[in-house]
Amino acid sequence: MYGVIFDFLRDYVIQNHGGKQTWETLLQASGQSVHKIYFPVTEYPDEEIVAIAKVAAEALSLPLPAVLEDFGIFTGKKLMTFYHMYVFSNEWKTFEVIEHAGKSIHHYIHKHNPARKPPQLSAERLSDNELMIHYYSARMMCPVVKGIVQGLARHFNEAFDIYEEQCMYHGASECVFRVTRKAH
Ligand code: HEM
Repeated sequence: MYGVIFDFLRDYVIQNHGGKQTWETLLQASGQSVHKIYFPVTEYPDEEIVAIAKVAAEALSLPLPAVLEDFGIFTGKKLMTFYHMYVFSNEWKTFEVIEHAGKSIHHYIHKHNPARKPPQLSAERLSDNELMIHYYSARMMCPVVKGIVQGLARHFNEAFDIYEEQCMYHGASECVFRVTRKAH
């Protein structure tokens, strides 16, 4: 996984869970040096990020999916400032960002790097108020998807119900989310 995701996780821990000291404690507890630096466009083993998230979940006495979802919320908001150059229109809101992430952004980003493994994400618009998201990745980070949708919604001042209709953790070949706009 790209170092940029580790940087997001670091920012998340520092901002929401007690600062740099907590991050260094998590690094150490997951077997890394406290001085470890992740370079944004370098590949790091997926297990490293999972190990840090697991240690964080234990420290917070929360289930790992809850921590990953919360990290997704943070990430959804941060993506819109950090990667603003991929948001090609002022008209885009939550649904458009998800659609374009699946259709182009994940494929386009760092496409010169043959080692990258972006998730497979696709979206099907059922109506102005309803979107089905299909997600597959060997990393099985569906809680992060759920969180990103909520983070984007907060950024764009929208509100949705998110229901995971099928999940890889329950034997499905991919995760499918139904995202429905909340009535005002
Ligand atoms: C501006 C929009 C976006 C950008 C620039 C972006 C960028 C990235 C990058 C660089 C990675 C790391 C990939 C790798 O290491 O190979 C990643 C991973 C990921 N992205 Fe996005 N992303 C965007 C939107 C989204 C959206 C809307 C979703 C879901 C609703 C999403 C879900 C994920 C997930 C779950 C991962 C973790 C890796 C995996 O599951 O395999 N992303 N994204």
